[in-house]
Amino acid sequence: MSNPERESYDLEGKNALVTGASKGLGEQISRELVDKGVHVIGTSRSGPPESLQPDIERGAASYELGDLSAEGDRILERIQEQQGGFEVFVNNAGAFSPDYFSQLDADTIAKEIGLDLVTPLLLHRKWLELYNQNHPNGRKPELAVNICSISSFYAWPGGTAYQAAKSGMAAAVAGLRSMERYLATEASPEVKREIGPSADVSTRIVAIYPDNIATGLIGRAQESSLYQVRGAALPTELVTDAVMKTIEGAGTFGEYDDVAILVNPKDPKTGRELKGAYLAFIPLDSETSRPDFGARVLEKVADEDALVQ
Ligand SMILES: NC(=O)c1ccc[n+]([C@@H]2O[C@H](COP(=O)([O-])OP(=O)(O)OC[C@H]3O[C@@H](n4cnc5c(N)ncnc54)[C@H](OP(=O)(O)O)[C@@H]3O)[C@@H](O)[C@H]2O)c1
Repeated sequence: MSNPERESYDLEGKNALVTGASKGLGEQISRELVDKGVHVIGTSRSGPPESLQPDIERGAASYELGDLSAEGDRILERIQEQQGGFEVFVNNAGAFSPDYFSQLDADTIAKEIGLDLVTPLLLHRKWLELYNQNHPNGRKPELAVNICSISSFYAWPGGTAYQAAKSGMAAAVAGLRSMERYLATEASPEVKREIGPSADVSTRIVAIYPDNIATGLIGRAQESSLYQVRGAALPTELVTDAVMKTIEGAGTFGEYDDVAILVNPKDPKTGRELKGAYLAFIPLDSETSRPDFGARVLEKVADEDALVQ
């Protein structure tokens, strides 16, 4: 199940909230969005990064500092007040603490599940609530981009809390899509009135599932870890490119709302290892409405020598 009829998304003049914009993937996605005419509102505890400073100075981007786990509501209220809200939500901020499960302390597990799962859900909910409160003056929720992880599909020993949170986010994405479908096709006018204007929005909700990325996240996370993550990593530019193409939704990228970026994956038909970086377009299973990873359609995007060893 894919969406062959979708048109490319016009980014010009849109506002985009990018969480975790101070470094890594979020910084690069922010830069690309600004270059496409989007007003980026970055957020993180530290920052903004130097690469965004000139855009902030000329008014093409802005920045909100804060801990999203504790101050998400305040940050979104300020964006509503100052920028009239945002059409595009890039849920990217994430925490990652690979280790043997018995080595993870309770606080780390709770924090990781908080930032990677609870916080994005609270931000998404607040986005809809502010739209209801400010309609017809606020910007409409049009596109939510959730940076999940390939660990939603591949089990691995070092990331129990992380993969629980990221898989939970992928399940939440499926639930949000299903809620939209229900509101569009089955909910009564009384229920929709009670919910408010957000009952009539049809936000495209996409999920990106990257393999290891050479952003520094893994290196930093492993400094105090007994468990070592192995294998090559994707260059950040390659993942950013896939995210931008998914956002714009041209061609095959418009047909699928679930896209993985894989390092040396196995061919699902032959089981043979394929060398290099591959996109995996993941269709939805028609019975469960969840991504059917077994039915993935692979497309090679880089040779093995482009990977970071
Ligand atoms: N790197 C990988 O191998 C990999 C693979 C698959 C998926 N991903 C996912 O990709 C996303 C981006 O990862 P990355 O590799 O770019 O990580 P990164 O370089 O560590 O960047 C993480 C960003 O999140 C922000 N952040 C962390 N905690 C925050 C908090 N409590 N409140 C607000 N902002 C916070 C950080 O800024 P501050 O520290 O300034 O707050 C930073 O801007 C994450 O969701 C990650 O799980 C990464």
